[in-house]
Amino acid sequence: MASENGSSTKRGQWASHLGFVLAATGSAIGLGNIWKFPYITGDYGGGAFVLLYLVCVILVGLPLMISELIIGRAGQTNPVGAFQKLHKEGSIWQVTGWLGVASGFLILSFYSVIAGWSLAYIFKSIAGFEGTAEAIQSQFGTLVTHPTESIMWHTIFMGLTIAIVIGGIQRGIERWSKILMPALFALLFGLMCYGLFGTNGGKQALAFLFVPDWSKLTAEAALSALGHAFFTLSLGMGAMITYGSYMKRGASIVKDAIIVSLLDTVIALMAGVAIFSMVFHYGLEPGQSVGLIFKTLPVLFADTGPWVSVPFFVLLSFAALTSAISLLEVVVSYFVDQRGWPRVKATLLLGGAIYVVGILSAMVSWTVMFRGKEQGFLDIFDFITTNYMLPIGGFLTCLYIAWVVSDSVRSQEFGSKDKLYKSLVFVLKYITPIALIAVLLHGLELLPFMEY
Ligand code: PHE
Repeated sequence: MASENGSSTKRGQWASHLGFVLAATGSAIGLGNIWKFPYITGDYGGGAFVLLYLVCVILVGLPLMISELIIGRAGQTNPVGAFQKLHKEGSIWQVTGWLGVASGFLILSFYSVIAGWSLAYIFKSIAGFEGTAEAIQSQFGTLVTHPTESIMWHTIFMGLTIAIVIGGIQRGIERWSKILMPALFALLFGLMCYGLFGTNGGKQALAFLFVPDWSKLTAEAALSALGHAFFTLSLGMGAMITYGSYMKRGASIVKDAIIVSLLDTVIALMAGVAIFSMVFHYGLEPGQSVGLIFKTLPVLFADTGPWVSVPFFVLLSFAALTSAISLLEVVVSYFVDQRGWPRVKATLLLGGAIYVVGILSAMVSWTVMFRGKEQGFLDIFDFITTNYMLPIGGFLTCLYIAWVVSDSVRSQEFGSKDKLYKSLVFVLKYITPIALIAVLLHGLELLPFMEY
């Protein structure tokens, strides 16, 4: 099929509506849901944070996802081309697309390193976790500080990502999303049932996640909730523009955005229930930060055995893989659509370049001064993309849809001009941009009422 290789003007398209929904959900559900959401919820004290996060998903995430899908489906091309097509050739708005391509490149470079650790832990789980708690926890340090091992797993993970994206939309991304996503739901459902009924921590986990303690509600928590809503829904970098561009006319963008956001949220909460049930069962503290999954959980897995830990890390790896393919697809689609490269060449060259940059993140001992501290590249790239690049990308997308694009294009893709449409435009004009500026100023340490 010529279109699948990008060698003809006809582009790829999702074969079915379900295929699109699963692929977009696959992009959204990733390390953000299973690794990051539980640990930041733990750090910020539980229920109140979860509630804030839900508000952010509704007020910022959902409107922005609808906006990106509108731009993608109306433009029927990559993020850079879509802004040119909808606005005009050489339009300044294409900068938003450029920023997205650069964000996709940079995020995937470190995302693949963390996903590689998850692959490594599948094999560590099969071998079994043994010894004292300290010995088990120190395995993580050993893995991370051994560049050859870390780079090997990064190589395997990038190889898998490239292999899927080379296959194109239908035969690569859609086909694999249809296999990996149901497997992920099943694995997580099993683990959640284990947490709820197989441990004594289920009740406490539910209370921790769903009963808000208002004293824990701080401005810092609110800004983190907002930043996370953004990252977890794959927004601000053109992933939903790109996936939207392979959509056929007809399906309701609003309905699809609600389904994807809802599934993403449900999965994060299920992961929270599964993980915190185990944490409470063993009488541990929930605020374990970044080490929650790779250091704390393996100590618990020493008791449960591989039948809990293997599915857990397989789940984490699947989730990471379906997100990684969307990150690579944004970059590849730019070279295929704008520059006319064949898909195979674009995927191999760009995937290869991302892989090489990723080695910087895998070399944790390489540090540079950044914001007054010696830091590794993984932390620096994570910080720059999450705090600057994604909020700026989201802000520009929001401004474009709220104030620049013609009402006829917007309402046609939205599917109506009813009350819901008017409220969306209102939120995009006045609420979403202010929230995004707050995240950005916070990242720049410029918010007047915060202490830095
Ligand atoms: N949403 C993904 C996650 O939660 C990360 C991601 C961000 C993927 C941006 C694509 C684009 O892990």
